Amino acid sequence: MSKKEHIEGINRNLTSYGDVGFSRYLRRAFLSSAGYDRIDLGKPIIGIVDTSSDYNSCHRQMPEMVQAIKRGVLQAGGLPLAFPTISLNEILTSPTTMFFRNLQAMETEEMIRAQPMDAVVLVGGCDKTLPAQMMAAISADIPAVSVVAGSMLTGSWRGERLGACTDCRRMWARHRSGELSEDEINEIEQALCSTGGTCMVMGTASTMACVVETLGLMMPGGATPPHSSGDRLKNCVVSGRQAVELARSGLKPSAILSPASFRNALTVLMSLSGSTNAVVHITAMARRAGISLTLDDYNAVAERVPVIVDCKPAGKGYMEDLHHAGGVPVLLKELESLLDLSTLSITGQTLGEQIKNIKAPGSWQTTIRRLSDPLYPKNAIVSLKGSLAPNGAVIKAAAASPHLIRHTGKAIVFESPEDAIDRLDNPELGITPDHVMVLRNGGPIGAGMPEAGSLPIPKYLAAQGVKDMVRVSDARMSGTAYGTIVLHCCPEAAVGGPIALVRDGDLIELDVEQKRIELLVGEDELALRKKSFVPPPTPKRGWAKLFAEHVTQADEGCDLDFL
Ligand code: FES
Repeated sequence: MSKKEHIEGINRNLTSYGDVGFSRYLRRAFLSSAGYDRIDLGKPIIGIVDTSSDYNSCHRQMPEMVQAIKRGVLQAGGLPLAFPTISLNEILTSPTTMFFRNLQAMETEEMIRAQPMDAVVLVGGCDKTLPAQMMAAISADIPAVSVVAGSMLTGSWRGERLGACTDCRRMWARHRSGELSEDEINEIEQALCSTGGTCMVMGTASTMACVVETLGLMMPGGATPPHSSGDRLKNCVVSGRQAVELARSGLKPSAILSPASFRNALTVLMSLSGSTNAVVHITAMARRAGISLTLDDYNAVAERVPVIVDCKPAGKGYMEDLHHAGGVPVLLKELESLLDLSTLSITGQTLGEQIKNIKAPGSWQTTIRRLSDPLYPKNAIVSLKGSLAPNGAVIKAAAASPHLIRHTGKAIVFESPEDAIDRLDNPELGITPDHVMVLRNGGPIGAGMPEAGSLPIPKYLAAQGVKDMVRVSDARMSGTAYGTIVLHCCPEAAVGGPIALVRDGDLIELDVEQKRIELLVGEDELALRKKSFVPPPTPKRGWAKLFAEHVTQADEGCDLDFL
């Protein structure tokens, strides 16, 4: 196929006026007002999805990144046209960005389809923005390059290195237990986020960046350069150049993604001890590509992959350390024996060709370990099943407490995140370290699936030195969090899943090794309880109604069922 055949440029996706010649003429007329002449408009058009926003400090230097991408596009002979979409910041969006991920995906997909572009560069980063953009690019299926904001640099407080948000949580827990004063936590608050960029531990943003690079939808080495670095801007320039190449070659996500590329992505996810949120996002992306991924597929990969990236929350390093150690290319080199090397990337090369000349992790660094010397032997993220979660649940075993991964305890139930906030610290509840704290109505339909699953340890127990307890919910947790926390219980409480039927005092048994989570209550009793189950009211209008009526459960990726 000739290169020319893939370029329609400004004549792609014409506005409908019932006269093609008029539509083209009108486009040229309006674009002349922006200074574009026929030479400009004869070039491949590269759309750039810009998610800069004053509400998104994780994307703070994105305007400079977009300029660097434009430079790369111009160098390669394309015409860059940037356009804004929704930008979701984890910390400034209520009730939770997860409620809006599919809205961003829909908006991005539709704008890619509606406007003239031969290829698209999608610039995201903060947790939901990247999966939303990839879902959009996969569905729109035009040549696409992912660029991420990159991580923040670490901060420092009284000589201690700090990073969002594992250290945000750790320090807050010390404050709740009385170990850190009000003045001290105020000082820490000002030291945690020292630059723009995404959270600099192996949270959801970092995990998904590494996953997307592995899937072949990002330029090699693009996942790890810090937001404020020259390496980040250089990645933008090469991504712009590559987008023009893709516009000419016509290489689309559908030709890149395969069951093997997703298995490779799961291998990297497990080697990172990545965010549990990635399970939801990767499943949704695979679904968009027409590839089925089940929780059993995650377990099959987790069984054979050790954790070799030493980053918080499972380890001690930060994203800038991973970048200095060589980033994803060096990680892929070390994982070579566990990967399918025939998968393709936007470079047009196979994974095998791409990592052929990459060197194994150097002995001068400690962030990417050798397979023979893992941080954690296997099963970083475990999918659980059992009577409490017949369709599945997940736990980040690598960030759980060894003494709790096999535990039976009495349930103490909170009806919602708000109920937990109201009652959790009340000593009259009589919560002990052996209790299993259950949070329900935090699933996709119940609450948009907020990151509320990592319930804090009750203050009075924290003051006694209790650092972890078993917690179970149908909500998610931040990829930066840690503890023995069972998440994404399916079906969720709002649709009458077994988690809706738990009562205070019921026994819950967690056995991570056996991959089980059981509610030890007889079937007859559960059937009785089910009779009195009343589902929550459905929202009456707008996005909330569409979302509640069509969102799928966590084991299917929480996408809308019609997308
Ligand atoms: Fe944006 Fe963590 S809040 S990546």
